[in-house]
Amino acid sequence: MCGIVGAVAQRDVADILVEGLKRLEYRGYDSAGVAIVGHDDSLNRVRRLGKVQELADALKSEPLAGGTGIAHTRWATHGAPSESNAHPHTSNETIAVVHNGIIENHNELREKLQQFDYQFTSETDTEVITHLVHHELKTASSLMEAVQKTVKQLEGAYGTVVMDTRDKERVVVARSGSPLVIGYGLGENFIASDLMALLPVTRKFSYLEEGDVAEITRFDVTIVDKDGNSVEREAKESEVSHDAGDKGEYRHYMLKETYEQPTAIRNTLEGRLSGSQLNVDTFGAGADEIFKEIEHVQIIACGTSYHSGMVARYWLEAHAGVSCNIEIASEFRYRKSHVPKNALLVTISQSGETADTLAALRLAKDLGYKASLTICNVAGSSLVRESDLAFMTKAGAEIGVASTKAFTTQLVGLLMMTLALGKHNGMSEAKQAEIAHSILTLPNKLEEVLALAAPIEALAEDFADKHHALFLGRGDQYPIAMEGALKLKEISYIHAEAYAAGELKHGPLALIDAEMPVIVVAPQNDLIEKLKSNVEEVRARGGLMYVFADSKANFASDETMKVIDVPLCDDIIAPIVYTLPLQLLSYYVAIIKGTDVDQPRNLAKSVTVE
Ligand code: AGP
Repeated sequence: MCGIVGAVAQRDVADILVEGLKRLEYRGYDSAGVAIVGHDDSLNRVRRLGKVQELADALKSEPLAGGTGIAHTRWATHGAPSESNAHPHTSNETIAVVHNGIIENHNELREKLQQFDYQFTSETDTEVITHLVHHELKTASSLMEAVQKTVKQLEGAYGTVVMDTRDKERVVVARSGSPLVIGYGLGENFIASDLMALLPVTRKFSYLEEGDVAEITRFDVTIVDKDGNSVEREAKESEVSHDAGDKGEYRHYMLKETYEQPTAIRNTLEGRLSGSQLNVDTFGAGADEIFKEIEHVQIIACGTSYHSGMVARYWLEAHAGVSCNIEIASEFRYRKSHVPKNALLVTISQSGETADTLAALRLAKDLGYKASLTICNVAGSSLVRESDLAFMTKAGAEIGVASTKAFTTQLVGLLMMTLALGKHNGMSEAKQAEIAHSILTLPNKLEEVLALAAPIEALAEDFADKHHALFLGRGDQYPIAMEGALKLKEISYIHAEAYAAGELKHGPLALIDAEMPVIVVAPQNDLIEKLKSNVEEVRARGGLMYVFADSKANFASDETMKVIDVPLCDDIIAPIVYTLPLQLLSYYVAIIKGTDVDQPRNLAKSVTVE
């Protein structure tokens, strides 16, 4: 989604802003722009449709000098992707604004501002902020006061940064529903929507809270909360490494992140699980006391994170003795739901900023859940700050839009949660030790699975001319089939659906012919004979199958079936193990199709609007 970078410094900041935007490219965008107050106090702006590189090239021929500036990558919501809709937006050659989020009452504000003779030059909702600040400044004593008066009139979501050429020693920023992080430098300070943008210039950050408005100068940061009270927001050193945004030897971030999974899981396990000892405090202070009383778990998430929650339901109900429901956040937040006694609300999110998941968490606070827990990959994100408990996956920065290592580390966190809840609900010590042992085998097992890359790359050729694909699984492999289908559709644009294999004859069997590849996830387990019957149903209708199975499942390749031999593993970790071959398959199909693997069309890494 949209990205923001801003700076107040003595040195020229154009390069810092553009580098920041490049580091936010992974979030998805369609245009980019920068505005800087010149040494002569003029407002200078360059915007380009397309990649940040286009903006960087334009700045080479049209360099902007100055130490106070704001920059933005836009992901169109109101108004088509175009140069005139790209941010920053300006008012009367003095005010410049960048904005993430959606202003819902923009039509009403636009009409009001037109009565004051403000001319609109874009179709965006953002432009109302620009003119409103200008209008409020006619009576306000400072930029800070004008922005405070402005945001009181806004309905919707915003993370916004405002700059005034007549007062270039500062920028004023405001947050409601769209994250902003302040970066502290020496004699210079910064603002961004994601700390990744600022890692080249600082490692010290503080996050604004909902409703905060802050004034940032070279030497000071002054923050007021939604009630206008002065507040401090604790600044912390970030652990995210500076080179987290480098592809290294890999052609794409997605491939790099797929290969990082054994390490990501080792990091997620470190200090938390050794032998059969689980450190329950890793879920947050007092977690064990809360877990003791939990009888029901409600999981809320979107996309890939939703699929990890689906797997967790199988684990929790089979092993931890608690009932579990899982729901897509955008559905949960708009329906009336029943909250069972002693229920734990669990959100799952890579980014910790997904608008629907966050809204569901906020709603749940009023519904009477005993506590909330988030499984998340971004420290300091909104979900982490607003939940009672948090389990941090240690996947490291995930840049590719297609989630890979975040998904498998979420599953590891959910398995540990199964252990933590299970021990209060009659899970025997022997069972706890068995599950713990299986989890600890994961990093090495995944290294074995990654050795399948070459045969899977060869297999991908078969998909080059296909328009549809069907994924089948049963039990805890059904969500993995769904995840495989999501990966294929999001990065190769092949229409893919997943079904619980038992559902085949209730409709999807009608789709089967030689043009419809059917991908089957088939480890040896209690359901394998049932799955084999489903495979026969496909074979009988002339379908061509690609079966991911271990040696015990006993499938053999023939003219209707290609079997990909996956290493044997314990049942409980099989959903994690079987995810990797499907990630590799979608990656290599996308390579053949020539799509933009890391930034697929129309998608964003962090979905901060509804
Ligand atoms: C996965 O490949 C997708 N990019 C997407 O489904 C993603 O998982 C979803 O938008 C949820 O994001 P979150 O984990 O950051 O909440």
